[in-house]
Amino acid sequence: MLNKVHELKAEVEAFNSASVQEIEAFRIKVLGSKGQIKALFDDFKSVPNEQKKAFGKELNELKQLAQQKLELLKSAVGNTSFAAENKFGEDLSKPAIEKELGARHPLSLVRNEIIEIFKRVGFNVSEGPEIEDDWHNFSALNFPEEHPARDMQDTFFVEKNPDISLRTHTSSVQVRVMENAKPPIRTISPGRVYRNEAISARAHCFFHQVEGLYIDKNVSFADLKQTLLYFAKEMFGEDTEIRLRPSYFPFTEPSAEMDVSCSICKSKGCNVCKYTGFLEILGCGMVDPNVLENCGIDSSIYSGFAFGMGVERIAQLKFSVNDLRLYSENDKRFLSQF
Ligand code: PHE
Repeated sequence: MLNKVHELKAEVEAFNSASVQEIEAFRIKVLGSKGQIKALFDDFKSVPNEQKKAFGKELNELKQLAQQKLELLKSAVGNTSFAAENKFGEDLSKPAIEKELGARHPLSLVRNEIIEIFKRVGFNVSEGPEIEDDWHNFSALNFPEEHPARDMQDTFFVEKNPDISLRTHTSSVQVRVMENAKPPIRTISPGRVYRNEAISARAHCFFHQVEGLYIDKNVSFADLKQTLLYFAKEMFGEDTEIRLRPSYFPFTEPSAEMDVSCSICKSKGCNVCKYTGFLEILGCGMVDPNVLENCGIDSSIYSGFAFGMGVERIAQLKFSVNDLRLYSENDKRFLSQF
């Protein structure tokens, strides 16, 4: 019987493994409650009394040896692998997977900056639906029915209903504001707009605008100009100059387009400003009295100005992005640069 003890002792001494499973299997086999050592202790009872002392000593030594050996092997495999056996099935000591932080979309950054600039001079923010009826997108804004001016904005109609379309500009929101509020009104409407255009580097079927509206007594073109100059300087820098060129919109009279001096070449001429030193960024004008009347505002008492700009266009100039498609492709290589 002593032989059995010696054999097992040799086996324990020879055992080596770096596998958590193998070590555990060996522990169960040798030290487990139905293991070999337990069996030997059971045998101990039948050992003749005079041999009990020697046998007991050897058996206890074997047990200690086995325990020490297993401890040693376990710690050699390291806490890491043992942690793998925790009840969550996770290695708790493993370095965490780094969480990638998201960032704001460049268009959101620019939109927020535009909003902040106008908020500082008392404008609030108004929003409206992207699916609009003809009245708010066109008719109230002085686009007569069948008037070719409606073709200026290639419209997506919804469900073959000529009365419902995707808004082509956020001027529709301004109509809603004028219908529901009394002057003075000082509001900007940021939002997504849709036009049926082929997608290319310079055009897209949707883009973003921020349009502004100011209505009060005695609002003049000078107020418009001053507000826009303030905006241009805040957005593009103190040295920025503006230039207004006569234009046409059905809802403003007079109307203008505004250029800012090219911040890329400091107006010396480059291929971004096509060697003109200026870049067009927005449309503006004095709100046509017809529009005020359409919205229930007395045009003999009140006057106002309006302007509208494309957020992509401003972002393009700020970040030197030359392809509009980049803004909606969700390419992380592009988005992570902002
Ligand atoms: N709504 C015009 C557009 O989308 C922009 C604009 C707004 C022009 C206000 C003049 C005044 O093109």
